Amino acid sequence: MGITILGIETSCDETSAAVLEDGITLRSNIVSSQVDIHKKFGGVVPEVASRKHLENVHPVIMEALEQAKVTLKDINAIAVTYGPGLVGALLVGVAAAKAMAYALDVPLIGVNHLEGHIAANFLTRPDLEFPLLCLVVSGGHSDLVFMPHRGDYQLLGRTRDDAAGEAFDKVARAMGLGYPGGPLIDKLAREGDASALKLPRAFLEEGSLDFSFSGLKSAVLNYLNRAEMRQEEVNKADLAASFQQATVEVLVEKTLLAAERTAVKTIMLAGGVAANGGLRSLLQTRALAAGCTVVYPPLHLCTDNAAMIACAGYYKYLRGDFAPLTLNAVPALSL
Ligand code: KG4
Ligand code: ZN
Repeated sequence: MGITILGIETSCDETSAAVLEDGITLRSNIVSSQVDIHKKFGGVVPEVASRKHLENVHPVIMEALEQAKVTLKDINAIAVTYGPGLVGALLVGVAAAKAMAYALDVPLIGVNHLEGHIAANFLTRPDLEFPLLCLVVSGGHSDLVFMPHRGDYQLLGRTRDDAAGEAFDKVARAMGLGYPGGPLIDKLAREGDASALKLPRAFLEEGSLDFSFSGLKSAVLNYLNRAEMRQEEVNKADLAASFQQATVEVLVEKTLLAAERTAVKTIMLAGGVAANGGLRSLLQTRALAAGCTVVYPPLHLCTDNAAMIACAGYYKYLRGDFAPLTLNAVPALSL
């Protein structure tokens, strides 16, 4: 058996454990989602998330081992997300990982959640050559990351207010679509006309690689309020399509600018919003015209999962980049 990493992820509302062999053979990836619980509140309730992780973490790890047909003796290292995320949620995974690493006497590897999202690309494409550029778009982040070498992350741009996924979630909530909003808007947008509504695109100062989505979000909320006041019917499909298009155009434009500036030819997408159909297709079209290739993880590996954490952990294992057993959760950890 090759190098076998057990990955654990509990940073937000999914309890996940995965067994990965040699960085590419995914033997199991169990994701226990709390979405149905948090849905009632329209978003993740941190206290509830911690309690659910505590209930789920042990059975999820056992299921991952069982499905992978490995025993504890086969595990070479434990990789765990230690930030960024909700502190109470992170602590559950970190405590479980530390206990296992100590009991099994194997290395503990601390993984940055964003590094995990980026590594999701290497699960199916271990052959990708550096330098690489990655647009990380999730519920908490919209980052443009330049990677000259493996393990070297240079932040070129980030959001100044809402993350892309957060804007999707807030707009969906205002439209009465439910939670999480990204997939619902994505689906609805397919039936709508993206040019139906004129919505703002925030490009910020000339040449800036930062993002801002709060103005766009407010424009949609104002539009909905006005329609309600005037008792006008809202075409939700058109609104979803127009909002998605405005978001995606800015993301794509800045990603291509970053690729040009860094002379990178391979662009990766990562994070929950990387599952967005509009983003994937526009980036692909525009990148092709610019002579760049776009890669993205399969849909189920875009949103939170432990396979990506195990994959990031595998490359850290090869470098001997281990964490002490005093590892703590770092809620605001940066790349
Ligand atoms: O990466 P992720 O699972 O969790 C964080 O680390 O935040 O990302 C979750 C975010 C949510 O905001 C969700 O609405 C968004 O990803 N998302 C999508 C799609 N699928 C998930 N946004 C747009 N289109 C999608 N298809
Ligand atoms: Zn995530």
